[in-house]
Amino acid sequence: MSAVAFSGVSKLFPGHGAGDEAVLALREVSFGVADQEFCSILGHSGCGKTTLLMMLAGFEAPSSGRILVDGRLVDRPTWRRSVVFQDYALFPWMTVEENIAFGLEMKRVPRAERRAIVRRNIELVGLQGFERRYPHQLSGGMKQRVSIARALAVDPEVLLMDEPFAALDAQNRSHMQEEMGRILASADPQVRKTMVLVTHSIEEAILLSDRVVVLTRRPGRVKAELRVELPRPRHESDSGFLELKQRIRDLIHDELEPEH
Ligand SMILES: Nc1ncnc2c1ncn2[C@@H]1O[C@H](COP(=O)(O)OP(=O)(O)OP(=O)(O)O)[C@@H](O)[C@H]1O
Ligand SMILES: [Mg+2]
Repeated sequence: MSAVAFSGVSKLFPGHGAGDEAVLALREVSFGVADQEFCSILGHSGCGKTTLLMMLAGFEAPSSGRILVDGRLVDRPTWRRSVVFQDYALFPWMTVEENIAFGLEMKRVPRAERRAIVRRNIELVGLQGFERRYPHQLSGGMKQRVSIARALAVDPEVLLMDEPFAALDAQNRSHMQEEMGRILASADPQVRKTMVLVTHSIEEAILLSDRVVVLTRRPGRVKAELRVELPRPRHESDSGFLELKQRIRDLIHDELEPEH
């Protein structure tokens, strides 16, 4: 079980004086993600999506309001909620396989099992042959795949993803989206996870999600919550898909330009 609840969550980043004003990133955000549900968060750049995810992961504390996972207050990071970061956040001094194994060591998985899990996840993201490379020797898309493999390797209860496919080329993006689709279509409760995805792609959100949360411009508030009830696998050409895409596009475009 791993249901998520945001309840009246606001986040104010205090400024440090002249030229560095305080920023209210999020205001009174409330929504829930059910156990094993896939929820996407959409909104303009700077509306607080990454901030929302960092608070759910436990890296940042809300200024007010609460975040609960299974009724327990989030107050620190744990492998149970693993994150695919927007900027990969790989350890530059570790190889691909060491980066992927990192969380498993924290979780005290025995060595032999660790190796098997690392191998399986390297195959999953198609990085065979690059196990001994360091992050600076990889392309942006490959780094992102290491980051996805690392997050999946610990078998988290909640998987948090911040634009995980943004740096991939079209072919790899659709491969990884299908892979995600496979994981979440699985009937095996061992495999299904609660997922929260931040994305700029309306198509990606509809393709993968049970629910889409649209945020306003900063300070981010919940503008709309939409259930995606289309059968899987989904196709962009389905009429229901196109209809929903237009609705979400209207909601996002409907947000006024910020005042200057
Ligand atoms: N650690 C921080 N200190 C101060 N301000 C911050 C910090 N993190 C984020 N902010 C500010 O909070 C606001 C929301 O940032 P955030 O990164 O959450 O946006 P986002 O929706 O993820 O944007 P993008 O789509 O561009 O990734 C921005 O104005 C940003 O400058
Ligand atoms: Mg962001």
